[in-house]
Amino acid sequence: MCGIVGYTGPQSASIPLIEGLRRLEYRGYDSAGIALGTPGKLFIEKKAGKLSNLENALDATLPNVHSGIGHTRWATHGGPTDTNAHPHVDNDEKLAVIHNGIIENYTELRAQLEAKGHKFSSETDTESVAHLLSDLRKEHEGDLTAAMRDAVKALRGSFTLLAIHADKPDVVVGVRRNSPLVVGVGKGENFMASDVAAFIEYTKHAIELGQDEIVTMTPTSIEITDLEGKSVKAKEYEISWDASAAQKGGFAHFMLKEIFEQPKAVADTLIGRLSDNNQILLDELHMSADEIRSLKKITVIACGTAYHAGMVAKYAIEKWAKIPVDVEIASEFRYRDPIIDPSTLIIAISQSGETMDTLMAVRHAKAAGGRVLTICNTNSSTIPRESDAVLYTHAGPEIAVASTKALLTQIIAVYLIGLHLGQVNGSLKDTEVRDLYKELLELPGKIEQILETVEPLRELTRTFAHNNTVLFLGRNIGYPVALEGALKLKELAYIHAEGFAGGELKHGPIALIDQGTPVIAILPAGHEHSLDEKMLSNIQEVKARGARVIVIAEEGAHVEGAEHVIRIPVAPALFQPVLATVPLQVFAYEMAVVRGNDVDQPRNLAKSVTVE
Ligand code: M6R
Repeated sequence: MCGIVGYTGPQSASIPLIEGLRRLEYRGYDSAGIALGTPGKLFIEKKAGKLSNLENALDATLPNVHSGIGHTRWATHGGPTDTNAHPHVDNDEKLAVIHNGIIENYTELRAQLEAKGHKFSSETDTESVAHLLSDLRKEHEGDLTAAMRDAVKALRGSFTLLAIHADKPDVVVGVRRNSPLVVGVGKGENFMASDVAAFIEYTKHAIELGQDEIVTMTPTSIEITDLEGKSVKAKEYEISWDASAAQKGGFAHFMLKEIFEQPKAVADTLIGRLSDNNQILLDELHMSADEIRSLKKITVIACGTAYHAGMVAKYAIEKWAKIPVDVEIASEFRYRDPIIDPSTLIIAISQSGETMDTLMAVRHAKAAGGRVLTICNTNSSTIPRESDAVLYTHAGPEIAVASTKALLTQIIAVYLIGLHLGQVNGSLKDTEVRDLYKELLELPGKIEQILETVEPLRELTRTFAHNNTVLFLGRNIGYPVALEGALKLKELAYIHAEGFAGGELKHGPIALIDQGTPVIAILPAGHEHSLDEKMLSNIQEVKARGARVIVIAEEGAHVEGAEHVIRIPVAPALFQPVLATVPLQVFAYEMAVVRGNDVDQPRNLAKSVTVE
């Protein structure tokens, strides 16, 4: 939920730290701060509000020192004030700590530390760690790593912690438990951060860390130890994203850039998935044909936008593989008694791979004997590491808080899984798979076509900017699209928006329609069960009650009753979400721009939600 970065090396530390925080600001942006490794007493600056507030506060007197830690915050304990901003320091201001996560036993720790004479200044859970570490470091005669080891043993909760001390300012110590931390291995300099985006400009070599592993880094060394102090072998990997992927590249916002990156993201996720003899290649699933044939049920768990990809999975997998699929919001999953056994496949979907609700659901499923396959966009993040198998999407870094290209690639991953399962269990013929895969390969071009013609949609959107309610209607595979359209609008434009299944309208929601209420209807593709006609009737029903109707329809489809029709290219019905979602993303984006909202960092949100 917060962004964390640490640096030690020859550069003036404030430069990589601020640059790193800028790249991590998507993780939280209600306050920011840095501690620089000035010998004697640390230099600390922290400010409520966006990173720019901190930058403005850092004047020319900024010390030119070569190590430090930086933090951008999404508040949990204590409001977003200067005082509650990180870093937090001990009473000598020699030791500073930054933290992502929650220390569950902080009240008890704080009481113990106050009883020993420590003076607290903030309302945060993190400050207890600064005081605790300070005492433990003294006990360990100045060894910050040993102090961190003992501190971690005393802490409950989820956390990434970085600490620095003025007596040995070039040493930065970090640890993670249920919260992300990666090490960036540079030449004569090293980094730690919540996400590789923070240091990708300086190095493409990274080390992934396991639970409760402690990193001690200097400019020329990286030592990883476990809680007993035993050395742990570093798991190094190459970062495949390039630095430009984490920059706006001439677009006004990351979100717009990411919307326009969708054709490539979809194409990259599809590359090399069909063999010469028309078999879907998904070795990552690590499932034998017998195991696939014995599957009795699939449960998809995810949150927010990823949950909508899960809903698409239900339609696709049930249709192609004839395996029953449940889709569940991850935060609800483990609080009932879900029936899981070895014949159940759990599919977790998460862009970040760090969403705590999804992670806890995965752990619950695994503990109950389920096999977990994760669809994820972030290499070496926690959820994939704890899953039995991972299918990585290739969306590249998604920086805007609102998910766009990650969703489309998640849907593609879901299609590949559905086709593979159906092919292996004999529900789909090889020729059907081949034909569907060919259609998948057409999707990037079709998304491009939509993006080439969005300008009129952007203009049209402006005429809705002052409405306070927008409703979305979909049927069948268009229903998750309607939900996604509404979610995007809520999070970006701060407008009350709801998505409904078209048939459900008459059971209550139609009472919301008033003179001028905008309704966006996704006309079902294909003509199975005459669903398109049923949606046309829904359109007439809302129009008769004063709604202004926009319809998203395939080229050539018959439409009546719409004030505006947005055409999307023709594709097989199940693939419609990949196309129909795109105009809705643009609609939400434009609404946010017109209303003067912060597109990439909408209020109250964070990109990756690492608390339950
Ligand atoms: O990283 P994840 O895919 O697990 O994140 C799940 C949701 O928090 C995320 O999709 C959220 O709903 C987006 N901000 C929506 O645009």
